[in-house]
Amino acid sequence: MNEVEKIEFSKEAKALSERIIKRYPEGRQKSALLPLLHLAQAEFGGWLSVPTMDYVASILNIKPIEVYEVASFYSMFNLNPVGNCLIEVCRTGPCMLRGANDIIEHIENKLGIKEGETTPDGKFTLKTVECLGSCGTAPMLQCGADYHENLTNEKVDELLDKLGASGKRSSYMWSLKENNR
Ligand code: FES
Repeated sequence: MNEVEKIEFSKEAKALSERIIKRYPEGRQKSALLPLLHLAQAEFGGWLSVPTMDYVASILNIKPIEVYEVASFYSMFNLNPVGNCLIEVCRTGPCMLRGANDIIEHIENKLGIKEGETTPDGKFTLKTVECLGSCGTAPMLQCGADYHENLTNEKVDELLDKLGASGKRSSYMWSLKENNR
């Protein structure tokens, strides 16, 4: 059995992937690549392994390289394992001017990790990203589908305590479900 055969969507995710693919005309199934990668990431532990990307390629009947190219381009796709809570702090101009670097440093100190790392207990991964379109409420961060804005060190402490206690994995999955009823 090869790696592609070992990975398979759950029944629910399979049904959702089929609905997503049907949005596009026959022969244009590749257009479903981005939502399918989100679905695969949510389904398989918050990141995209090579076998997972190969599985998506097999569903869409495209070459694996076409999936790798897209998955490695966008910061919302993780090509390595991440913690339950993926903290993505915006570091672009407006957020930086409003203290993003201090927020990043505060998170690093609080969690005992550097940007790009995961805490040893697997609860948090810290990532920095470019503009998330919420410049008016800078500095801000994203965790799963939620934005946390006008950040201060106190707000960050509160948020990390809450996320750490919940034990839930952050995910975009809900929005895919909401949009595909
Ligand atoms: S610069 Fe941070 S959201 Fe736009």
